[in-house]
Amino acid sequence: MNSKILVTGANGQLGNELRRLCKTFPGLEFIFTDVDMLDITNPDAVSVFMEASKPAIVVNCAAYTDVEKAEEDVKNARKVNALAPQVLAAACAMQSAFLIHVSTDYVFDGTKTEPYTEEDTPNPISVYGSSKLEGEEKIQTVFDDYVILRTSWLYSEYGSNFMRNIISKGKENAFVEVVDDQVGSPTYARDLANSIIDIIIKSILNPQAYLPGIYHYANQGSCSWAEFTQEIFKLAKVDCEVRPISTDKYPTKAKRPVFSVLDTTKVRSSFGIGIPNWRDSLKECIGQLQ
Ligand SMILES: NC(=O)c1ccc[n+]([C@@H]2O[C@H](COP(=O)([O-])OP(=O)(O)OC[C@H]3O[C@@H](n4cnc5c(N)ncnc54)[C@H](OP(=O)(O)O)[C@@H]3O)[C@@H](O)[C@H]2O)c1
Repeated sequence: MNSKILVTGANGQLGNELRRLCKTFPGLEFIFTDVDMLDITNPDAVSVFMEASKPAIVVNCAAYTDVEKAEEDVKNARKVNALAPQVLAAACAMQSAFLIHVSTDYVFDGTKTEPYTEEDTPNPISVYGSSKLEGEEKIQTVFDDYVILRTSWLYSEYGSNFMRNIISKGKENAFVEVVDDQVGSPTYARDLANSIIDIIIKSILNPQAYLPGIYHYANQGSCSWAEFTQEIFKLAKVDCEVRPISTDKYPTKAKRPVFSVLDTTKVRSSFGIGIPNWRDSLKECIGQLQ
């Protein structure tokens, strides 16, 4: 099997982490693309690109990730998150390539009080969550050669994310009000990128250990957005008070699950992957930022 890996949406948080990591795997050949080079919503462009480049694996990091904007931009959110994954899956099937697709904890409604397993029934409560779930479902109608990794609260030193935005806000204000009744697991995009490479090496490039399916991936442990902010300020040495508030005091267009912790037992045991605690990974990320 060749080891050519096509990464879509490579200018985003996860794509950038894969780009950084690829240098440590000279045995794997990566092709990094973003919307200007390969628009995954364009079926003809996808099929021409796939035919010309013949990757063994496609890692789809491209997504419409603006949860708020998606509420009023349903058509485009669906186009990127629901229809394009089907296009990619069909192109992969034509080329006998494997698809690693990234999805979200927002496919769940948050009514559980225990971590969500892959067996739990999704019930999204936002346009973003619905579009991502539809993407998962469409891939599964096309073929079986996929790994869908649902992750949560992604952050990194790249791009726009909660950690970077709250550091900027904290530096400019004496206090910030942050929601304290939504609980999840902040996940460092670098850890996820490392595990994607691990999965490629341990399963996809090793037919004896080939394990397609849906998996949950998040840093270990959980917290509220307010607790996450407190830890960010402590590690980044930002002198700003965190005032916890309830969701009803912070109205948003999109509803978010109050609890979206993911149970990662399956991904850890299937691929022999160790996943760091969110506090350790945050420390590492903030160290990189500084
Ligand atoms: N961010 C989170 O908190 C979070 C949480 C759970 C799951 N996830 C999932 O994790 C994955 C990676 O997220 P991320 O935070 O790395 O996303 P990101 O930083 O927003 O990056 C997504 C990339 O996809 C590109 N893109 C958008 N439309 C495209 C198209 N039609 N064709 C090709 N590329 C396109 C974007 O380009 P432009 O910037 O030019 O639009 C951007 O570079 C996504 O599947 C996301 O749904 C994210």
